[in-house]
Amino acid sequence: MVDLLDIEPLGRAGIEELHSLTDRMVEVCSRPIPKSPALRGRTVVSCFFEDSTRTRLSFEAAARRLSADVMGFSAGSSSMSKGESVRDTIETIDAMRVDAYVVRHRSSGVPHQISRWTDASVINAGDGQHGHPTQALLDTYTLTRQRGGTGLDGLHIVMVGDIRHSRVARSDIDAMVALGAEITLVAPPTLLPPEVGTFPVRVSHDLDAALAEADVVYVLRVQRERMAEALVPTMREYTATYGLTARRLALLSPNAHIMHPGPMVRGLEISPEAADDPRALITAQVAAGVPTRMAVLFWTLAANPTSEEPVSTDPMNDAPVSAVPTEES
Ligand code: NCD
Repeated sequence: MVDLLDIEPLGRAGIEELHSLTDRMVEVCSRPIPKSPALRGRTVVSCFFEDSTRTRLSFEAAARRLSADVMGFSAGSSSMSKGESVRDTIETIDAMRVDAYVVRHRSSGVPHQISRWTDASVINAGDGQHGHPTQALLDTYTLTRQRGGTGLDGLHIVMVGDIRHSRVARSDIDAMVALGAEITLVAPPTLLPPEVGTFPVRVSHDLDAALAEADVVYVLRVQRERMAEALVPTMREYTATYGLTARRLALLSPNAHIMHPGPMVRGLEISPEAADDPRALITAQVAAGVPTRMAVLFWTLAANPTSEEPVSTDPMNDAPVSAVPTEES
């Protein structure tokens, strides 16, 4: 079985392979009927133990566009509210013979744990503060294709905001660095992870200075729901010091890009002017979500023939292929 739990094991080659598969899924999505039979007969379970809008919807849309069957599951409306454990829940679903789990959980490591309990593929859709690999794939896809290439070599990316609680930051740093980018993190000391010294990044507390040298500014939400104590004095002060305000837009090069994984809190970490600036790629990021997740589902399941149905078909047509398709196949 093939899982996608973290970015790191993919390396540059794996990320680029998934990006070129995403190009092919973009083509499928542009058809009058945006569907391929590639995963016909496969069942994908979307297991969201934590709230989500774009990630859940885009995974479910991705599975349907590849003709997989989708089973939905939400912790709040399942037997988990009666006290059933994650393990028993997974074993129950497993008995129904499914091919992939898409897992989001508020605790780090749950998708990894589930992968030890099932033979189906497990895809991490965000675990605690640990990782969010498909967000990193869609972000780097958006950025590489915007630049008209495959890598991010020499690109200077300034990531600003609540790095400490952000699984997006951790996965995006891994993917961006693997593709050759240089990263500067900008945050108050209380919103940096204690282990930041081990990250392959520079750290600054001066957003104005960092913006002047940025090719990309990647803004992160302040995750108040993950804070046990107040880590910023006031939100007004946070915005003044670390927000991408209308004034700061003028510091950014005309060719720079603004990114945000969503959900945005307009007026707090990002001003409406910045969110709607022509340099913003935020809508392109969301648009890349479905084809990226189609690529990930195809990549995990086409290499994981557990079903008796014909295994996989080329996403571009009905012809069977035996393994992960390459550009030539
Ligand atoms: C993020 C998440 O849930 O990790 N959103 C997303 O998936 N696009 C970031 C956040 O909640 O701020």
